Amino acid sequence: MKNSELISYAINSLENAYAPYSEFKVGAALLCENGNVYTGCNVENASFSATNCAERTAFFKAISEGERAFKKIAVVAFKNGKINEYISPCGVCRQVMAEFCTDDFEIVLAKSTSDYVTYKLSDLLPNSFSSKNLGE
Ligand code: THU
Repeated sequence: MKNSELISYAINSLENAYAPYSEFKVGAALLCENGNVYTGCNVENASFSATNCAERTAFFKAISEGERAFKKIAVVAFKNGKINEYISPCGVCRQVMAEFCTDDFEIVLAKSTSDYVTYKLSDLLPNSFSSKNLGE
């Protein structure tokens, strides 16, 4: 799947963001190795720490449906009425990615379907802690 198509899924997912506290809406779309796509949005809570980021929503939806092999994720954010910056996943989301993805998992940060930058997971979370460290 082209990055532009995956970004479209992420943009559509923004519509469902529940972000009454930050008013910062995030959408994500996760592409599995088998071609399936899972979208996610941020889901905030009055108890702020209970908030779930868009990226983790997408991952947890996919994992709970039995998916285990992932190719790439697109992320977009909407603030002050527009999508105007590349939003990089938070540290917790990077750690969740590291649990399920290899170093070459691709992270697409987008402002539009044609304006985006891509990173590898190993760029954003180098020298990560993982199950390898536990001897698993
Ligand atoms: N957020 C995400 O959903 N993904 C990110 O990569 C960064 C932050 C959400 C969490 C919270 O609902 C809002 O953005 C402000 O932090």
